[in-house]
Amino acid sequence: MAESASSRVHFWLLVGLSFLLGAVSHTTATGDDLLDSKIVALYMNVSGEVKFHCGGAIISPHHVLTAAHCVTGWHSDRFTVVAGAHDLSLPETTQVSIGVAEVTVSELFYWEPDSAIPVNDIALLRLASPLSFGEGVDAVHMPDQDQDPAVAEHCVVSGWGALEEGGPVTSVLHAVDVPVIDQLYCENSYPYLIAPTMMCAGYPTGHHDACAGDSGGPMVCGELLQGIVSWGSGCAEPLKFGVYTRVAFFRDWVEKHNYIPV
Ligand SMILES: *[C@@H]1O[C@H](CO)[C@@H](O)[C@H](O)[C@H]1NC(C)=O
Repeated sequence: MAESASSRVHFWLLVGLSFLLGAVSHTTATGDDLLDSKIVALYMNVSGEVKFHCGGAIISPHHVLTAAHCVTGWHSDRFTVVAGAHDLSLPETTQVSIGVAEVTVSELFYWEPDSAIPVNDIALLRLASPLSFGEGVDAVHMPDQDQDPAVAEHCVVSGWGALEEGGPVTSVLHAVDVPVIDQLYCENSYPYLIAPTMMCAGYPTGHHDACAGDSGGPMVCGELLQGIVSWGSGCAEPLKFGVYTRVAFFRDWVEKHNYIPV
């Protein structure tokens, strides 16, 4: 989450391998325990060092949804999910770490050749052992196939991403409230880059957005997981909305991979 600062145009996911899209807020901790319980922090082991990498959303005791760009090309044994967390530097009693048994990247995922933007940016993680739901750990509901959110509907995006463009990721979970943007307006703000499986959310004036490190995290509209943080240009810049993978497009795909709705 971040507040707008510079006008440099950087796609979040080009900032660094582990820092992809981001979100912005006025450093408000969510205080929303329900939301905290449905997000995971995805850690990655790179050269023996285990580091915070991305966010993800719990959709069943066995499954987490994240962005394809967070996991593509890597073996599942690189990843660990941490559920029930709020402040990653101060483990709560609710916090659990679980390995990832299998990474399934959407067959439709690719990097757009000219812009290196991730298209159909979604991946399903099967956990090595099931999560126990209860205090601090729960699943978010999936929309039905093609049950997209309405334009202007307010959604909550959460993550441990940077609070400003170019800033470090944070240890405390943040959340930002953003409205869904009309698809044509979205396409106009990123000419030729918006696929039908993407959607924009945010404010024309910027200020509230995802940011580096928020990639893979949930965008929840009402009770439904409607988006996955995917990419953006800078963080919280005017007319450069956050771009999210449309989860409703992939509902049937998720179900084909043994997801059982909760
Ligand atoms: C990280 O991966 C290496 C192999 O690449 C392994 O030897 C090491 O035990 C792993 N570290 C952790 C903390 O999982």
